[in-house]
Amino acid sequence: MHPTPRISPSLLAADFSRLAEEVRAVEAAGADWLHLDIMDGHFVPNISFGPGLIKALRQHTKMPFDVHLMIAPAEPYLEAFAQAGADIISVHPEAGPHLHRSLQTIRALGKKCGVVLNPATPVSSIENVLDLVDLIMVMTVNPGFGGQSFIMSQLPKIAALRRMIDATGRDIALEIDGGVTAATAPHCLVAGADTLVAGTAVFGAGDYASAIATLKQAGKTPCQT
Ligand code: DX5
Ligand code: ZN
Repeated sequence: MHPTPRISPSLLAADFSRLAEEVRAVEAAGADWLHLDIMDGHFVPNISFGPGLIKALRQHTKMPFDVHLMIAPAEPYLEAFAQAGADIISVHPEAGPHLHRSLQTIRALGKKCGVVLNPATPVSSIENVLDLVDLIMVMTVNPGFGGQSFIMSQLPKIAALRRMIDATGRDIALEIDGGVTAATAPHCLVAGADTLVAGTAVFGAGDYASAIATLKQAGKTPCQT
C-alpha cells in the first residue's frame, strides 16, 4: 500500500570537514537524492552554504541534488543554483516577492520546481501554482536547524496534500523535511508522503546503509503513537 519512499539525506548533518566523502558514502548506502539546505541568516536564523559548495560536490555523485532554498529573496540566486548543479530547486512562498514568477524562472532554467510549506503555512498558499510544481515539501519542524523534533500536527496537512496531488493526476513528489526518524517515518508514509529528508537519522547513525534501509522499510512498520 505504501511504496518504498525515496530517501534524501540532508547534508546539513554531515561532517563538514569531509563532505565529498560523506556524499559518496550516502550514495553507496542507498540514498536516492541529496538534500542541500541553503540558509541565509535572514529567512532562517542560521547560515549554511551556497552554490559554490554545490558545484564542488557535483562531480562526486550522480544523485539528484534536491536544493532547499531558505533564503529571501530567492529569485536573484535561482540561476546560480541551477548552474551549480541543482536538479530540483524548492522555494518557500514567504521568501517572495512572487512565488509564481520564481517557479516560472526555475522551469525556464530547465530544473524541477518545488514549493515548501512551513508548519504555519496553509495548503491553500500553493493551490494556484500547482500546475508549475513538481514537488511539494512539508516542513515538520520550523526551518533553520537539523535535529529538531517532528511536529505531529502536520500529518493532516500531508494527507490533504496527497489528496490534492492525486486530484491533479500529475506526478508531483510529496517530501517531508524535519525530524524524520524510524519512529516518525511510518506516520509520514501512511499520510501519503513518498520522499523523506533525513539529516540526523542518516548522518547521525553509525551505519548509513542500515539507517537508510530502515527508513525505506517504514511503510511496512506500524505507527507507534
Ligand atoms: C531544516 C532543514 C532540514 C534539516 C533536517 O531547516 O530544512 O532539511 O536538515 O534535519 P533532521 O533530519 O535532522 O531534522
Ligand atoms: Zn531542508
